[in-house]
Amino acid sequence: MQYAAFRSIGAYVPKNTLTNDDLAKMVDTSDEWITKRTGIKTRHIADKDEKTSDMGTKAAKIALERAGLKSDEIDMVVCATISPDYFCMPSTATVISANLGIKNATAFDISAACTGFIYVLAIAKAFIESGMKKNVLIIGAEKLSAITNYQDRGTCILFGDGAGAAVISATDKKEEAIVDVHTASDGTYADLLMTPNGGSGSAHDALDKESAGCYMQMKGNETFKVAVRTLTQDVRDILEANGIKSEDIDHFIPHQANYRIIKAVGDALKMREEQVVLTVAKYGNTSGASIPMAINDLYEEGKLKAGEMMLLDAFGGGLTWGSALVPFSPPKEKR
Ligand code: ACO
Repeated sequence: MQYAAFRSIGAYVPKNTLTNDDLAKMVDTSDEWITKRTGIKTRHIADKDEKTSDMGTKAAKIALERAGLKSDEIDMVVCATISPDYFCMPSTATVISANLGIKNATAFDISAACTGFIYVLAIAKAFIESGMKKNVLIIGAEKLSAITNYQDRGTCILFGDGAGAAVISATDKKEEAIVDVHTASDGTYADLLMTPNGGSGSAHDALDKESAGCYMQMKGNETFKVAVRTLTQDVRDILEANGIKSEDIDHFIPHQANYRIIKAVGDALKMREEQVVLTVAKYGNTSGASIPMAINDLYEEGKLKAGEMMLLDAFGGGLTWGSALVPFSPPKEKR
């Protein structure tokens, strides 16, 4: 049996920041309101000519180095993004592959919004366990500033840019293997979070008439309630299915959407404060990039050790949600 091991992590954060005070000059809001309702203080914003693939490439380069792999050893590249370089094609994954000199690999993007990284993790695990692939590069990369309406105070305070990447490799050692990944969706909630224009669901001339429809729109309050309910149940299910107790988790790394969602789910699961990884204050919500960016912070702070168990969970547009139980299994020579 070939198992899938989480070998390495990398991330890239753009240098420009957008603070709550900056936003208060753009829309009717305040640092106090944003901090109290979301826990966010700043977000990082990509340069005008910096694309999602540029950020993804930088994160992936670090992940490859830390996995001790060369470009020609990667046989699949999957990128989770809702802000791809190009509408439809080419995929961001193929652009990143070209930037890294990866040739002949299977490469594609997936759209699962903030749950994107959990989805690409599930895909990598399945391809490796089936024996079809050996080394899969997974990326979550977002230039959300490109699809954010900076006149809408309900959304523009939340989102930031960035990228994270990981290498998932085949192993014959069960103790190194990703334990489980859950992914799910409910399309009947599609209207809670959407970019209504720009696809085949909108008239051709809608782009000219209603360009604001190309930006993210969200019913925040309803989304919040479904998020807390669904995430709590999903995490309970994955722990129970695998006979693992919440106190045995070394690092709980939730999608960083809102401090209040993380706190509510963490409390319901009786997570201790030191188990919960928080980056929402400095990065805001970077959708598919948020979990790998948080894992990378933990790693670079020297707090993520070989063999430690990570519990990931995420929730986003679609609606989609998911969770994963992942031991950190870096290559022996990098421990
Ligand atoms: N500044 C000041 N006031 C504001 C702001 C703002 N930025 N935004 C909204 N308000 C006002 C509203 O107009 C409303 O005023 P009213 O009472 O006079 O009507 C009041 O504040 C309360 O609004 P709510 O929407 O009920 O505020 P809430 O406490 O729910 O916070 C927020 C809003 C932060 C958006 C929250 O609902 C949230 O985080 N939702 C979940 C987001 C999420 O997790 N999305 C999923 C992932 S994203 C993805 O997939 C891309």
